[in-house]
Amino acid sequence: MEIACHLAAPAQRKPKPADDSALGFGKIFSDHMFLMEYSLERGWHDARVVPYAAIPMDPASMVLHYGQEIFEGLKAYRGKGGAICLFRPLMNFERMNRSADRLCLPGIPVEDQLQAVDALVSADKDWIPATRGTSLYVRPTMIATEAGLGVRPSTECLFFIITGPVGNYYARGFEPVRILVEQRFVRAAKGGLGEAKTGANYAASLLAAKKAKEKGFDQVLWLDAGRLEQVEEVGTMNIFFVFGDELVTPPLSGSILPGVTRDSVLRIARDWGWSVSERPVGMGQVIQAIQDGSLREAFGTGTAAVISPVGTLSYKGKEYNINGGRIGEIARKLFDEITGIQYGEIMDRYGWVHQAG
Ligand code: COI
Repeated sequence: MEIACHLAAPAQRKPKPADDSALGFGKIFSDHMFLMEYSLERGWHDARVVPYAAIPMDPASMVLHYGQEIFEGLKAYRGKGGAICLFRPLMNFERMNRSADRLCLPGIPVEDQLQAVDALVSADKDWIPATRGTSLYVRPTMIATEAGLGVRPSTECLFFIITGPVGNYYARGFEPVRILVEQRFVRAAKGGLGEAKTGANYAASLLAAKKAKEKGFDQVLWLDAGRLEQVEEVGTMNIFFVFGDELVTPPLSGSILPGVTRDSVLRIARDWGWSVSERPVGMGQVIQAIQDGSLREAFGTGTAAVISPVGTLSYKGKEYNINGGRIGEIARKLFDEITGIQYGEIMDRYGWVHQAG
């Protein structure tokens, strides 16, 4: 793919954040973005890296009315000797194409997506923060841009990528989170959009998350849309439990996002010889295991959150502490291993790290 590069003039460039410890998540954006349009006649065309700027849009653009949108989230890390390391980017690009199929959007060859991210991250390599725990978050996004109000798949689309330096997703950092088990709203039903990475899933989650925040919780744990009993996932993370010596996560049953960090945890834990299961987990079983002491740990996994220990679960009006509300040794070990690979400090025995630039 040909990518035109129009780099920002020095006067257009923004000051870089002075303090890595105050980065937070998704608040600062780098100097450039990648753009590429799609039409039925021309397919994907005009790939380019340009200065970050507002995107002019027709108010009748289909994405604004019917939500035909998908996105991805991956990170570029500053590795040893300044190397730019992307973690398992192909998994994100393959998922982008599966989401595209589900939302009737056109796919993009994974090599082209990689080339686009490479070009953008190289243009903004000075934006990749160097402090451990920070990275450059990369957000590929595809939207339906045809102007029209008929409900049908758009024949025109825009693919764009923006990036920005990030620190911890949760303000408190690698600390146990407080999770409310959601009893009224559901995130996704089987056959719905749950396994696609589309804005609609996050829009559907906002009200429950807002109510949970008001009650002092960080996120909600979603249950199945049928009986509200089976555990699905947490707001922006997949969920794992350690029952005795068994590491368990719900299977990808159609309504759960197939997370890259989820897959990485499963792979590493199996290689370490741990007993690992992808099997349905009922809330009854979780509460029983908390009460009889066999639930040793619970933690969430996600690109933004990495590994996030769950310290408290609130279910049916009662709060339960997990592992005394402390970071568990299993969550810690997996966090150290995954971040060690991401920052190029631990040997990449899986070929997961792609060096950009
Ligand atoms: C990610 O972990 O990259 C996500 O997509 C979560 C995001 C919605 C905050």
